[in-house]
Amino acid sequence: MTLRQAQGYARQAQGDRRNGVESARPYEPEKNPAIRRITAGAIKRRKGKTVFPVATAYDAPFGQFVESAGIDVVLVGDSVGNVVLGFDETTPVTLDNMIYHSQAVARGTMRAHIMADMPFGSYQVSNEDALRSAIRLVKEGGACSVKLEGGRDQAERIRAITGAGIPVVGHIGVTPQTAGLGPGFKMRTHRDRLIDDARAVEAAGAYAIVLEVVDYEISREITELLSIPTIGIGSGPQCDSQVLVLHDILGMYPHSPSFAKRYAEVGKLATQALEAYARDVRERTFPA
Ligand code: KIV
Repeated sequence: MTLRQAQGYARQAQGDRRNGVESARPYEPEKNPAIRRITAGAIKRRKGKTVFPVATAYDAPFGQFVESAGIDVVLVGDSVGNVVLGFDETTPVTLDNMIYHSQAVARGTMRAHIMADMPFGSYQVSNEDALRSAIRLVKEGGACSVKLEGGRDQAERIRAITGAGIPVVGHIGVTPQTAGLGPGFKMRTHRDRLIDDARAVEAAGAYAIVLEVVDYEISREITELLSIPTIGIGSGPQCDSQVLVLHDILGMYPHSPSFAKRYAEVGKLATQALEAYARDVRERTFPA
């Protein structure tokens, strides 16, 4: 698919969705044509008005499919390490990897908000390092905002990045980059700790927060307490938004977490199609 084709599809989708139900404050290019993509501010204002879906994407065609489905917030997650790059974890993903995949999603989408993950090692060392990494994701990767893992311990970093004008999404609960240090991927149930973390992330200036595998009741409580949207994954139905990894939604990864819902089995379909092609070649029925 060429860039022109991708933009054509996206423009078509945009026409279909512009007056849709996705946005509490609709995208209004007629009022401000300079704003092409959904802004962090517009996402923040959805709080309490509309429950919105977020999906991950890692390349141009799937970014375009996500946008065409009316999902206008695309997370370029460091889950790219697991589902695309063949690692067992997200830790090896580099900042250059994230920039590369974010660029591809930016090329495949027209108006979606691109939220890019800050990978492990790109923000832990210092505020300056964190800000430099965030700037690269925005300037080179085309990201509209960045996401980083951690609560109170990362509040200073969030403040440093938002202080430079880059919107930040927090991420608490299960934090896969450092899952090996704590209780791994088990549901998080320490109410007071989670609430303190969520409050610290909000106070530091984040415009939204991911709650990953957080006890449902605690997620509901955090959602009520905060004035920024909570984006849940495996954290129950009461969050302001839900996010899933694309490969889980589409059934393109063999093992999905139990909280995920597979809406298709694209992996199986792909294998069947490839088997049919291989058979045709072997039997000389293709080319005809
Ligand atoms: O990397 C990712 O895809 C994520 C989601 C699981 C929230 O961080």
